[in-house]
Amino acid sequence: MGCKLGVNIDHIATLREARKIDEPDPIHAAVIAELAGAHGITVHLRGDRRHIKERDVEILSKIVKTRLNIEMAPTDEMKDIALKVKPNMVTLVPENPGEITTTGGLNVIENESRIRDFISSLKNLGIKVSIFIDPDMNQIEHAFKTGCRTIEINTAKYSDLTPIDLENCGKESLSEFEKIKEVAKLSHKMGFEVLAGHGLNYRNVIPIADIDEIVELNIGHSIIGRASLIGLEMAVREMISLIS
Ligand code: PXP
Repeated sequence: MGCKLGVNIDHIATLREARKIDEPDPIHAAVIAELAGAHGITVHLRGDRRHIKERDVEILSKIVKTRLNIEMAPTDEMKDIALKVKPNMVTLVPENPGEITTTGGLNVIENESRIRDFISSLKNLGIKVSIFIDPDMNQIEHAFKTGCRTIEINTAKYSDLTPIDLENCGKESLSEFEKIKEVAKLSHKMGFEVLAGHGLNYRNVIPIADIDEIVELNIGHSIIGRASLIGLEMAVREMISLIS
């Protein structure tokens, strides 16, 4: 059946914020990604607003034609924003000050009542809630108890352990892959819609996309990184043609 693709456009906002001006605009990136066939647009609204801003999620909620998924920490501030912006889906993630990117899945056991409350508030408005979670059945069983029925399995460890040359995968990479596969199967059986993401690139994504139970992948860094390289030639040629 094949996996759907949610494109994470945070890095376009990171580039914008490197100059604190109004371009490149993640709104433009969302439109291009959708025109290219993306099945959804994902952004992470961080507490420190270091890349994506409220202005971005407000506009995206109006113009995204596929599905808008906002990653956020399960805080009261974020819940209020979700209720106001009404994206199609919210993905609950842990957030630690100073981290370069999301490190690890959300600890559902430690945040169970907060998550349950978050899910029930958003459910009333028809907003789906997914939890970014490590491939750990104990955590996933607790996620089920909160009323959550969509999870995004954290593939960061698999991505870190998997070499560019997939044929030379070591034992650790293979065992992390088998864990993700097994957890995806069991979670699907429990009634979860199963997504996955983090660290996936143009090589390590293939085995993950082949797992039948995983229906959608959220990918950002590798896509935006590749775009900056394969788009560079045209950008240089355009500038040369303007000035010569
Ligand atoms: N899923 C979640 C929950 C994330 O936090 C991120 C990074 O923002 C991604 C997927 C995408 O990861 P990457 O940028 O490594 O593709």
